[in-house]
Amino acid sequence: MKARRCELSVPGSNMKMMSKAAGLSVDEVLLDLEDSVAPEGRPEARRTIIQAARELDWQGKRLAWRINPVSSPYFYQDLIEVAEAAGDKLGAVIVPKVNRPEEVYTVAALLSAIETAQGFEQLIALEVQIESAEGMFNVEKIAAVAPGRLEALIFGPGDYAASIGAPGLTIGGKAQGYPGHLWHYALSRIIVAARANGLEAIDGPYAAFKDPAGLEETALQAKLLGCDGKWAIHPSQVEPIQQIFSPVPEEVERAQRLVEAYKASLAERKGAARFEGEMIDAASVKMAERTLRRAGIKA
Ligand code: COA
Ligand code: MG
Repeated sequence: MKARRCELSVPGSNMKMMSKAAGLSVDEVLLDLEDSVAPEGRPEARRTIIQAARELDWQGKRLAWRINPVSSPYFYQDLIEVAEAAGDKLGAVIVPKVNRPEEVYTVAALLSAIETAQGFEQLIALEVQIESAEGMFNVEKIAAVAPGRLEALIFGPGDYAASIGAPGLTIGGKAQGYPGHLWHYALSRIIVAARANGLEAIDGPYAAFKDPAGLEETALQAKLLGCDGKWAIHPSQVEPIQQIFSPVPEEVERAQRLVEAYKASLAERKGAARFEGEMIDAASVKMAERTLRRAGIKA
């Protein structure tokens, strides 16, 4: 699977921004029909997204579109119109505000029918946003409902804060006065549900795009917890996020040395061994193998 270190969100109503996004070096661009597009603008934005998907040169990056929630009146046209007209150009659909597994099943069933009817050769993958108390409560069931089609769970910090009653006003922002990572529980729960089902876990956006230090701090926290990537809402956020979620060469080299040292200790019939001032054993090798897999090296 291609990496999803950064997903850049672009309003689907804005052809100029979509053209700019097409030229950026980013793993995934998502063309939005939900909260960045005013409700009256959505029918036209569907057509603009179809045109952008078909006509712009996306330079091989993964292209997704975000529909409105399954409970909204926009949902079916967002999904069907865009998928029928440009589903061969769009690698994934992002479903926001998922509360229950049935919603994911509904989207997956419609996609299967559209793909067959249109003769598309590639499946349109699914990514879902967990951004409500109900969605978090059901995240384990949601993560398991569409194997082979569902690829990623995405945290939605703005809607989630509103849903649970946390008082912040900055989407994905830090909280003054809270001594720790405000979204530790939410992100960790999403990551566990994702990993238990072989999915990727993606952190949501950091809306304060004039605060690069805050962006980097939250991206690093998400990476250290186990996330694969993070959303961006502005071009200036793309490069730092791509960088933070890329393998660090020194860590990759150390992982390779660790695996070699462990093999040597096994040859001496030892399960635990000394390595660069630490103890390593089979668990260390699993950690090293994950670092190597992220770097595209077969462990
Ligand atoms: N994708 C592509 N291009 C973008 C962009 C985005 N998300 N956000 C800004 N740009 C472009 C601007 O068009 C501008 O291009 P130009 O230099 O060719 O004129 C350039 O980047 C600099 O933008 P800037 O002037 O700093 O910001 P802005 O005032 O134009 O836009 C926002 C600020 C927040 C309105 C805009 O970044 C945005 O709409 N972001 C996405 C919102 C979104 O998708 N929300 C839903 C997901 S949470
Ligand atoms: Mg949201």
